[in-house]
Amino acid sequence: MKHPRDKRRDSRPQQPRKGGAAPAPTRDRVERQQERKPEQRPAPRQDHAPEPKAEPRKLVRREGAFPAEQLPLILEVAPNDDYALLDSGNGEKLEQYGPYRIVRPEGQAIWQRALPAKEWERADAVFTGDTDEEGLGRWRFPKMPLGETWPMRHDGLHYQGRFTSFRHVGVFPEQATHWDHMARLIVDAKRPVKVLNLFGYTGLASLVAARAGAEVTHVDASKKAIGWARENQEMAGLGSKPIRWICEDAMKFVEREERRGSRYDIILFDPPAYGRGPKGEVWQLFESLPAMTDICRSILTPKPLAVVLTAYSIRASFFAIHALMRDTFAGMGGTIESGELIIREKSAGRALSTSLFSRWVAK
Ligand SMILES: C[S@@+](CC[C@H](N)C(=O)[O-])C[C@H]1O[C@@H](n2cnc3c(N)ncnc32)[C@H](O)[C@@H]1O
Repeated sequence: MKHPRDKRRDSRPQQPRKGGAAPAPTRDRVERQQERKPEQRPAPRQDHAPEPKAEPRKLVRREGAFPAEQLPLILEVAPNDDYALLDSGNGEKLEQYGPYRIVRPEGQAIWQRALPAKEWERADAVFTGDTDEEGLGRWRFPKMPLGETWPMRHDGLHYQGRFTSFRHVGVFPEQATHWDHMARLIVDAKRPVKVLNLFGYTGLASLVAARAGAEVTHVDASKKAIGWARENQEMAGLGSKPIRWICEDAMKFVEREERRGSRYDIILFDPPAYGRGPKGEVWQLFESLPAMTDICRSILTPKPLAVVLTAYSIRASFFAIHALMRDTFAGMGGTIESGELIIREKSAGRALSTSLFSRWVAK
């Protein structure tokens, strides 16, 4: 697809507006709000004071030829039976998540809605963000009160949708294209494959990898997210599959894996712009990403398959993470493919951009 775009997004702090569209729902912005209001975090993760910063990793320029490159690559999620972006506009999006129609703020939807108002009025849930409380209070259910969770599906995989206080519902649908790509790599490898899913959230990528036959290590700093991911594993009927669920700071985890000599064939990392480990460790995308990318390279098996980085950023373009990945994977052969993840809208076919990505693929 052919629409490279410079994505310097508006980084001005936004206040929720009464009666109108709330601010942009990019994950990055949500995380920034969390940063400003720590008491509102969905999953308070630590009672500890922030840990003192460890010595920063000394980064040495990697020798060897750069991997080939493919960019811009726009990876698209089209409307499907499990999920559809039905319409967007006026700072909001109308989505179908399994049985429910949901309206959420979408700051990038600066165009007009394509569907008539009556289609939007048929929504089952609307994120209002009205209260400072956690949970359901931030949602309005126009037809009838709904429970906090509901059954969802991705490509035959059952999991739990949930109305969270941060307008998320437990899945980032644009990631589905990465999951499909990863599942193909695992199946085609025809050998045991080890996958590391860093910042794994509710575990969909981990479940897709396990179903495809991989041995999976899933890392997230939030106990709540890990609990939800484990519930999803049971719901998906994958309880017997080899998934290690680890509640830890992602950076600490990879540093330890490097020291121990643990190795992976596929690594996914989908970090927030800002986050905290369970012991208060601070993750800042722009500060922490080069070291994490470098460590990810060094914990690959001798025959690795792919490293997939997604960024929900307000300042970078995909060229920035492309350059970082190409530098880091110099001498490894393969290709660096970079671009954006978009969701294709059902009503008028417009593309809703969600994030930047860059991935190294061995072949
Ligand atoms: C952007 S979400 C990841 C979404 C996920 N990859 C998916 O597609 O569903 C960010 C996740 O990173 C976790 N997180 C934030 N800071 C972290 C840290 N320092 N170490 C590990 N996980 C962290 C959060 O708990 C959250 O679940």
